[in-house]
Amino acid sequence: MKARSYPVVLSLALVLLAPISLRAADAADSTHTFLNPDDPALAEIRLLGERTIDHAGSTLVREVQRVLATQAPAMAVGLLHLKDYKLPVAAPGQPVLIAIKRTSLRLRSPANSPDSPELAALERIERQLENGDGVPKLLIQRVALPGLPLEWRVYRPLGVMKQCLDCHGPKDELAPGVADALRVMFPADQAVNYKTGQWRGVLRVSILEPKKKP
Ligand code: HEC
Repeated sequence: MKARSYPVVLSLALVLLAPISLRAADAADSTHTFLNPDDPALAEIRLLGERTIDHAGSTLVREVQRVLATQAPAMAVGLLHLKDYKLPVAAPGQPVLIAIKRTSLRLRSPANSPDSPELAALERIERQLENGDGVPKLLIQRVALPGLPLEWRVYRPLGVMKQCLDCHGPKDELAPGVADALRVMFPADQAVNYKTGQWRGVLRVSILEPKKKP
């Protein structure tokens, strides 16, 4: 009897814990608010965010293809991703793109660690996946970090494709030499053991309101 009741207690504890920890995270962090991406007031921000992420996302995929066409994957580890990527400059009176970032709950590079609004976005996506709701197409946040201007963040989830597996796939299926290169360059790497179609992380852009004329 005892052996049977244990998993029930455990799963009950998890059910009870989840909402409590969520509330604690929300209460502790007033730096960000999730907004409805379909709100017409956000149309301009959304359009700019989506266009930029579409461009950066397809550049990331094309770059992987291009680099792997000429380099062994183990050599390519030091070249990826988007190291020379430049954001387009805003036209006068238009919202201004200030940053693009890739981040994940399973990080390869500590330089891509999520800050608290990003962590909230990643956890929101993970929760939706756990609930069987699928991956959201887009998230938008208003972010107010101390000492910084108010910014909008637009997030798009990234999936794993076949050409990602040389460096992010199951450990025993990584391309030759990749595991060694990762051990040297990213000793705390957690970004392996992905399968095609799995959620890998997000691309996000930050946008400021257009500069007001004095
Ligand atoms: C040749 C090896 C290689 C391939 C192939 C590769 N990656 Fe990466 N990936 C890396 C390296 C190295 C980093 C860490 C450096 C960086 O980009 O900041 C990284 C980091 C990332 C990150 C940032 C989060 C983190 O964990 O640091 C994302 C997201 C990502 N890769 C997605 C992809 C996707 C999607 C593909 C396939 C389209 C892909 N990668 C293919 C080597 C690779």
